[in-house]
Amino acid sequence: MAQSAALLTRILATSVSATVQAGKIIRDVLNKGGLNIVEKGKNDLQTEADRCAQRCIITSLSNQFPNITIIGEEEPSTCEVPSEWIITEADQEVLQVKLPSHLEDVNPKDVCVWVDPLDGTAEYTQGLVEHVTVLVGVAIGKRAIGGVIHQPYYKNDENSTYIENGRTLWGIDGVGFGGFVPKLPPEGKRIITTTRSHSDSIVQSAIKSLNPDEVARVGGAGHKIILLLEGKAHAYVFASRGCKRWDTCAPEAVLYAIGGVLTDLHGERYSYNRETTYANTRGVLATAPGQSHQWYLSRIPDEVKQKLQ
Ligand SMILES: *[C@@H]1O[C@H](CO)[C@@H](O)[C@H](O)[C@H]1NC(C)=O
Ligand SMILES: *[C@@H]1O[C@H](CO)[C@@H](O)[C@H](O)[C@H]1NC(C)=O
Repeated sequence: MAQSAALLTRILATSVSATVQAGKIIRDVLNKGGLNIVEKGKNDLQTEADRCAQRCIITSLSNQFPNITIIGEEEPSTCEVPSEWIITEADQEVLQVKLPSHLEDVNPKDVCVWVDPLDGTAEYTQGLVEHVTVLVGVAIGKRAIGGVIHQPYYKNDENSTYIENGRTLWGIDGVGFGGFVPKLPPEGKRIITTTRSHSDSIVQSAIKSLNPDEVARVGGAGHKIILLLEGKAHAYVFASRGCKRWDTCAPEAVLYAIGGVLTDLHGERYSYNRETTYANTRGVLATAPGQSHQWYLSRIPDEVKQKLQ
C-alpha cells in the first residue's frame, strides 16, 4: 500500500476493500442457509453473518492501524477468521484522493471507526436483501468525516440481475465521494423515508407533522441514506432512541459529502469520538441536498422533541 497516502485515505481505502469482503461473507452465509440467529433482544437479531463480517472488518483494520479506536456493533465473538478473510489491500481510487491540509496529518489517537457489519438484520433474515448494508464510518475528533456504505446485494437497473460484488458508496465530508451518482429528489412533492420495523405513535406523529406525499418504509439506516443520496427521498425521519452511532456515522459522512445534513431532532449533530455514548437518544433527521433542514426541524412537534431528550 502507498505509505505516502494520508492516514484518513488509507483507513477509508482499506475499509472499502474490507466491506466488499464482508459482503461476500454475508452472501455466503445466506447461501448456506446457516443463519444461526440469536435474539439479542426485542427486534434485534444477531446472525452468524453479522459476527463473521465484523471480525473480518475489525481484524483487517486493526492489523494495519493498531493505534486507532474501532467500535463495532457486535460483541467480540469466537467466529473463526480464515486468513483469506483478512484484507491487506486497499481501494486504489480512494487512495488517490487529495485531502485538504487539516485532514492530511491526523493523529491516530483522534480517529474512531464505527462498524456496523450488517445494517438491516431483520430485513436480511426476511429475505429483503437489498435493504442490507455494511457500514464503516471514520470519525476524527467528534465529527463523522469519512464513510463507506457497501450493499452486498445490488441489482442492475437495466436487467434486474445482481451485480457480482454488490456496490460500494463512499464519501469524505468536504472532499469528495464515489461509487454512485448523486441525484436531487423530485420537486413539488415530499417523500419521507423511515423505519420498517420499529414504529410507534411518536415515530408516526413526527412523520405526520411533515405532511408527506409518500412514506418509504425501508430497513437499515444505510439503505435510507442511499435513498437520499439517489434522489428517491427528501428526508429520513426517525423519532426514536433505537438507532446507534455505528448506524449513522458512515451514512452521515457520505450524506455531508454531497451537501446533505444529518442531525438529531433538536438540530444538533451527534459526536463520534471514542468517549461518546452509543445510543442516538435524540432521534435522527437527515435531509437531502437542497432541502431546508430547518423547515423539517420546525415542523417536528414539541411533544415529540420532549420525548427525545
Ligand atoms: C503505535 O503507537 C506506538 C506507541 O506510540 C508506536 O510505537 C507505533 O509505531 C505506532 N504504530 C503505528 C503503526 O503507527
Ligand atoms: C446485466 O447488465 C450488465 C450491464 O448493464 C451486464 O454486465 C450483465 O452481464 C447483464 N446480465 C445479464 C444476465 O444479462
